[in-house]
Amino acid sequence: MPASSELIGTKLGRYTLIDHLATGGMAEIFLARQESLGKFRRDLVLKVLQTRWEEYPEVVDMFLEEARISALMRHPNIVDVFDVAAEGGRHYIVMEYIAGRTLAELAKRAIQVTKSISIEVGAYIAAEMASALAYMYDGQGGMGEPFRVIHRDVSPTNILISTAGQVKLIDFGIARQGNITPDSRARPGKFTYMSPEQVKNEAMDGRSDIFCLGTILYEITLGRRLWRGTREAAMKRIVDERPRPPTFIRRDYPTELELIVLRALEKKPEDRYQSAAELHNDLQGFLMRSRAHLRSHFHMADYVAKIFSEEAEALISDAGRRRAQEFVDNTEVLESDQTDLDFDAERAAGPGAALARALRASALGVWAEPAPPAEEPAARAEAAKVEEAPAAEPAATPAGAPDQAAAVRDEAAEAPADGPVGTPSSTKPAHGPDKPGTGAEAKETAEADQLPRRWGPMLVAAIVLLAVVGALWWLRGQ
Ligand SMILES: Nc1ncnc2c1ncn2[C@@H]1O[C@H](COP(=O)(O)OP(=O)(O)OP(=O)(O)O)[C@@H](O)[C@H]1O
Ligand SMILES: [Mg+2]
Repeated sequence: MPASSELIGTKLGRYTLIDHLATGGMAEIFLARQESLGKFRRDLVLKVLQTRWEEYPEVVDMFLEEARISALMRHPNIVDVFDVAAEGGRHYIVMEYIAGRTLAELAKRAIQVTKSISIEVGAYIAAEMASALAYMYDGQGGMGEPFRVIHRDVSPTNILISTAGQVKLIDFGIARQGNITPDSRARPGKFTYMSPEQVKNEAMDGRSDIFCLGTILYEITLGRRLWRGTREAAMKRIVDERPRPPTFIRRDYPTELELIVLRALEKKPEDRYQSAAELHNDLQGFLMRSRAHLRSHFHMADYVAKIFSEEAEALISDAGRRRAQEFVDNTEVLESDQTDLDFDAERAAGPGAALARALRASALGVWAEPAPPAEEPAARAEAAKVEEAPAAEPAATPAGAPDQAAAVRDEAAEAPADGPVGTPSSTKPAHGPDKPGTGAEAKETAEADQLPRRWGPMLVAAIVLLAVVGALWWLRGQ
């Protein structure tokens, strides 16, 4: 096959290749145009199998299987595939063109600008993906039997965010339908986004993709990679290591979302969400209870436009660039960088300050009740002083109890990752079946939040008692 650039302007079937979009592991991705009667014209994507693979019948079969499985899927969060064909010895798949960004690109840019993709945007993207996974595994598209499709490569480069704000899963290159039994010939997905059973090459079902989505949700909302290190080290971690609870990394991380993430990341499939629909519902519930502004793809489109705007570009610091690169390269994160990245503190005034505040509010404060206007300046001043996620803190905590709740979280942050507080293996969403530990931890935090309310009446009672005793004493002396 000639170099990708040489193919531009040539035709493949009815399609004229007009741009080269990407080179994947197996295929070249082209933007193509279809023209027909009258002024009919439509842009599509052609995924063309690389010629080096054409001589391997098993690879061609896999490519055809990719086309067959993706053609079954008709869902707003899954790429639409229209056709598969071969011409001049070249196999290609025809699909819709999703103009936009990969989630990997969005995450990188968001880390540069605001430390991470905003909590609500991260939860929204994950909810949309959970909807796609639920359809793939349990949906049946009117055919009677559930599809039982497992993607096996749910990763940030295989999730596209369109300029219209739609979230779409692509690349069914290693997807399988039906029960997946151990298969040594299987081409693995991206190793840092595998599930434990995938790493161990054990039997898999839809719960494997749920784990991969959990990894993505963890990473995009924290702005840091979960399974770091070399291929071997990362794969060992996926199997053995408990993820650090998000609140250990970011103290203002919403507890409800933390429980959702950790449940999706349970090592044993039977401890995880049993269906992607359940995960979708929990994420939707979280978004609703947190009064997130982001409810539709319009808001998603707005967020993407803002984060890639020139104004946002002006907010990027060297530390932001470094951290984003560490995310892409999957290398260790330097904790000290977090202070430098607090662009809100750095840019409390001057050009870009309004956008910085808006992005940061969206990034950090969306699960909280909006603070009353009078308190806003104080909250912002606070934001300039405190190192991590301060702006959301006062509003995120029930009125009257900010210090106690923060103290409880601070203690948790200082505890060792495998310590007793919030042990991940024992976590479940508040409304899911509880395990020992989780309920106790939530109760502890809730109790801490209640303390000032209890002290109030007790103080009044003590004063009244003292007054009565004092009065009696005085009367006795008369
Ligand atoms: N329908 C589409 N619309 C827009 N861009 C697309 C589309 N499909 C693929 N791309 C772009 O091409 C890249 C590679 O596509 P895809 O993942 O399908 O190829 P692949 O050969 O299976 O890659 P890999 O093995 O590396 O995952 C995507 O990450 C995305 O940037
Ligand atoms: Mg891919």
